[in-house]
Amino acid sequence: MSQQFFSQKPLNIVAVSGGLNNPSKTEALVQEIINELGDATPIEVHFIKFSEIGHLLGGAIYRNQLPQRVQDDLAKLEAADALIVGTPVYRASFTGLFKHFFDFVEQTALVDVPVLLAASGGSDRHALVLEHQLRPLFSFFQAQTLPIGVYATDRDFTPEYTIKSDLLRARITLAVARALPILEWAPAKGKRAEVVKDKSQQANQNLGINKQIEQDEVLTSAAVPSLDAAESRLHHKNIKTNVA
Ligand SMILES: Cc1cc2nc3c(=O)[nH]c(=O)nc-3n(C[C@H](O)[C@H](O)[C@H](O)COP(=O)(O)O)c2cc1C
Repeated sequence: MSQQFFSQKPLNIVAVSGGLNNPSKTEALVQEIINELGDATPIEVHFIKFSEIGHLLGGAIYRNQLPQRVQDDLAKLEAADALIVGTPVYRASFTGLFKHFFDFVEQTALVDVPVLLAASGGSDRHALVLEHQLRPLFSFFQAQTLPIGVYATDRDFTPEYTIKSDLLRARITLAVARALPILEWAPAKGKRAEVVKDKSQQANQNLGINKQIEQDEVLTSAAVPSLDAAESRLHHKNIKTNVA
């Protein structure tokens, strides 16, 4: 970890790769994003790999029917400061098992949680799977999907499944750099919930209707994030910000 932007304790990141194969391009892609983020700021990572747990998911209809290992994974995911999620494209969407896993996630657990979206596919033409399939799923959870997702194709990888494309690396750098200002205040979501709860209780006790409420008192964590971290990351890497 070469640079430290944040003064808080390490970010609690949960990463998910929906790639069922071993080795898996999706897994390699998600690992590369983890590495880039870890290079920018202190993180602790729990990496959920479908190459390991995929076969455990199919038979369960209810969460308590899942093996303990998967239940623990879900609990960690719900407690994360931020998520990195990746899936292979199957038939122009995320895989069925990827969706099945997220069907078990508690509906309100991901509210305001930043989510970096990633996918790997065989074709360039399915890059919009990020926008048309993954982003709506996490919008349902009221998660905060990060502005830039990362899409890779088979051509971006060596036969050993390491990343060989400079453009893909630049895209990962850009996605992480643009994520940093948002991640900086991700852990504040817990504090924000407390503040909102306190305010609600106060409001219930205060029957006056003319009291002026300052917005920044109510949503203390909703300050405009500083872009300094993103800019220095991009300049540090010396890449152009308009990589497609
Ligand atoms: C059942 C199946 C369906 C697929 N459908 C698509 C598709 O619709 N679009 C696409 O671009 N790639 C498709 N692919 C290719 C995979 O998305 C691609 O090879 C991916 O990188 C595999 O990821 P993995 O190595 O993590 O398993 C499909 C692959 C499989 C096995």
